[in-house]
Amino acid sequence: MIPTLSWTPEGVRFIDQTRLPLEESYVLASTYEQVADVIVTMVVRGAPAIGVSAAYGVALGALKTRARTTQEFAPEFEIVCARLAGTRPTAVNLFWAIDRMKRLFGDLLASGANLSQVQQRLLAEAHAMYDEDIAACKTMGAFGGALLPDEGGVLTHCNAGALATCGYGTALGVIRSAVEQGKKIHVYADETRPFLQGARLTAWELMEDGIDTTVICDNMAASLMRAGKIKAVVVGADRIAANGDFANKIGTYNVAILAKEHGIPFYCAAPWSTIDTATPTGDAIPIEERSPVEVTHHGGKQLTPHGVGICNPAFDVTPARYVTAVITERGVLRAPYSESLKEMERIAGQA
Ligand code: MRU
Repeated sequence: MIPTLSWTPEGVRFIDQTRLPLEESYVLASTYEQVADVIVTMVVRGAPAIGVSAAYGVALGALKTRARTTQEFAPEFEIVCARLAGTRPTAVNLFWAIDRMKRLFGDLLASGANLSQVQQRLLAEAHAMYDEDIAACKTMGAFGGALLPDEGGVLTHCNAGALATCGYGTALGVIRSAVEQGKKIHVYADETRPFLQGARLTAWELMEDGIDTTVICDNMAASLMRAGKIKAVVVGADRIAANGDFANKIGTYNVAILAKEHGIPFYCAAPWSTIDTATPTGDAIPIEERSPVEVTHHGGKQLTPHGVGICNPAFDVTPARYVTAVITERGVLRAPYSESLKEMERIAGQA
């Protein structure tokens, strides 16, 4: 399995996604500050992977503290959580994971747990999130794989694969599962300017698994759809609002419009930790603006004239009306999403 991130006695080991596909190297983060840095610099990226990384960051904060008691550690715990929460604003999995660690810490503090117990429980919680993430990807993969055609081209945007999760992937998990079900899928991977998650990461991880893949430039999708080469689109999400609007990598919205125009099903695959019912619509999702250098330069080489204006929003919002179905580990949701999301929440609450 692709080793996106793993716990070691020294800290969290990350495959360096800024160096793939030409170099397979690893970065060790042994403090919570280092975990925050690898999230900001996108050594690790993808909503579920960011969430679990932050959980390990919180655990590292506890394990490396100089405090001697749980009470003494409590103010530092808030600093650790705030630093990790300040890394990337759009992927709600980050806040979901930190909130889960905060709730656990609150319970442990109230119960009078000693610092060593707190350290072990926070680490165990991060491990649990890691395992749950892989299980969720496998389950949503099985649900989504059944929706894909028996054969033909499937377009994906960005990287919502094993590299964006703890393993298997969301959108790419759906594709993996379809292939495992014997479907003859050919993946078209949008290159995904400016960070090239599609060209570098999706292409790399699908080739590792021997899945047929063709990289296309982002501006080629319409023409391929018109030529009948794309039978379905499947993408991931960074945050799904209560009405089904969702944020994902910039350019996803373009693909959704194109899919609708060509009558092609457009699926969004995400774990429940990506659903944010506290955010009513896509308009309220915070969109990260990243450094202009990601647009002006590639591989250290400048592409644009000095001083030109640059715009670099990392995500866009796709309105729910473009989404054929949302694939989660709890099942496949259909419009109207404001109702199907609530209904799924209600059923899960009873289980
Ligand atoms: O900026 P990134 O690379 O973190 O953006 C990643 C995406 O947009 C993914 O599609 C999303 O996080 C889902 S990953 C399973």
